[in-house]
Amino acid sequence: MGCICGARGRENPHLSRLGEILDKHRNDAGFLIPVLQEAQDAYGYLSEDVLEAISTEMSVPLSQIYGVTTFYSQFRLHPHGREIIKVCHGTACYVSGAEGITKGIAEELGIKVGETTKDRLFTLESVACLGCCSLAPVMMINKETYGRLTSDIARGVIKKYE
Ligand code: FES
Repeated sequence: MGCICGARGRENPHLSRLGEILDKHRNDAGFLIPVLQEAQDAYGYLSEDVLEAISTEMSVPLSQIYGVTTFYSQFRLHPHGREIIKVCHGTACYVSGAEGITKGIAEELGIKVGETTKDRLFTLESVACLGCCSLAPVMMINKETYGRLTSDIARGVIKKYE
């Protein structure tokens, strides 16, 4: 059976890529998380349009989809910035001062964790272990890792990206 999203895609070309993703997973039992991951990769974040289309096409209540997207921190419901700052809050980083680093960056940028600056330059995220605990406390900006941070060092790193 063809994807109804194909028709939707003609109405709204923005959703045509989603139609392909849904077709690929239409017969998978555990389709929801892979569909959400691929939709986020395709669009950068999960907009209301995209979530409503997934709900309609896959017959999943919108409330269930929001439940999943808000439970897993990997999902973004808003557009993210050009630079994504991930401050590690795993155990080693937490005991080494991750909270203070996050607070310092949040103050520097004027946003809270999970938010994006108005100029869409930075998004601040708090994440689980980044896999380099010996460098704790650690943050990543896009694919670059910065370790043995203090709040001042972290603020200095951020300034380099402005
Ligand atoms: S706990 Fe932060 S890198 Fe492992």
